[in-house]
Amino acid sequence: MRIVLLGAPGSGKGTQAAILKQKLGLAHISTGDLLRAQVAAGTELGIKAKAVMERGELVSDEIVLGMLEERMREADVAKGFILDGYPRNVAQCEALDQLLQRIGMPVQMAIQLDVDEAVLLDRLAARASKENRADDSPDSVRFRLGVYQAQTAPVVDFYAGKQLLQRVAGTGSVEQINQRLLDLLQSS
Ligand code: AP5
Ligand code: MG
Repeated sequence: MRIVLLGAPGSGKGTQAAILKQKLGLAHISTGDLLRAQVAAGTELGIKAKAVMERGELVSDEIVLGMLEERMREADVAKGFILDGYPRNVAQCEALDQLLQRIGMPVQMAIQLDVDEAVLLDRLAARASKENRADDSPDSVRFRLGVYQAQTAPVVDFYAGKQLLQRVAGTGSVEQINQRLLDLLQSS
């Protein structure tokens, strides 16, 4: 199965993708995780991305696509994948389409996790107090939600237009949401 998991910051993309990876043996490809690994390793790419990420802006399409192309060459992708955090604007949707067409692995389903803003803010504030993600400060969270509305929300329409979009309620317990996703994947 080749899935794009969509949703606002804090909607649970990373949490759910990690469980689906375990249960279904799919590769979990998070561009945010790939970027944070580059920042942690202090690579040239990471140095370029660090300040942009801390502000909550999008890293350039070119950088992220290059990183994704490299990741797509790894062996685990052959079993199927869940993309988490990509695509994030319409240009990325088109670049992804071309990349996946080239390697003969088109997206089969896009799933939008629907979560109200109040819940997103609560979850990200809770994470800020536990973990040390540089972009979970109140200013960056506000900025990330604005970027999501302006640039990433149209990605949902892109997949709806291709008849690939499904929506899942992203509130409730982690297990409840995961069961909704498994039910959806099993029924399709
Ligand atoms: P990225 O890492 O993709 O961050 P994000 O989209 O802002 O989303 P989060 O990771 O914050 O949320 P999530 O939906 O994964 O939720 P999670 O499961 O963690 O991107 C970070 C940055 O990298 C971007 O701002 C940008 O700069 C750059 N970047 C990445 N991709 C890019 C791209 N394609 N193009 C350009 N730039 C890019 O859950 C959130 C919290 O809630 C966790 O603490 C979790 O434990 C908790 N939680 C989850 N589910 C539940 C639940 N059901 N109940 C209670 N708590 C829950
Ligand atoms: Mg995430």
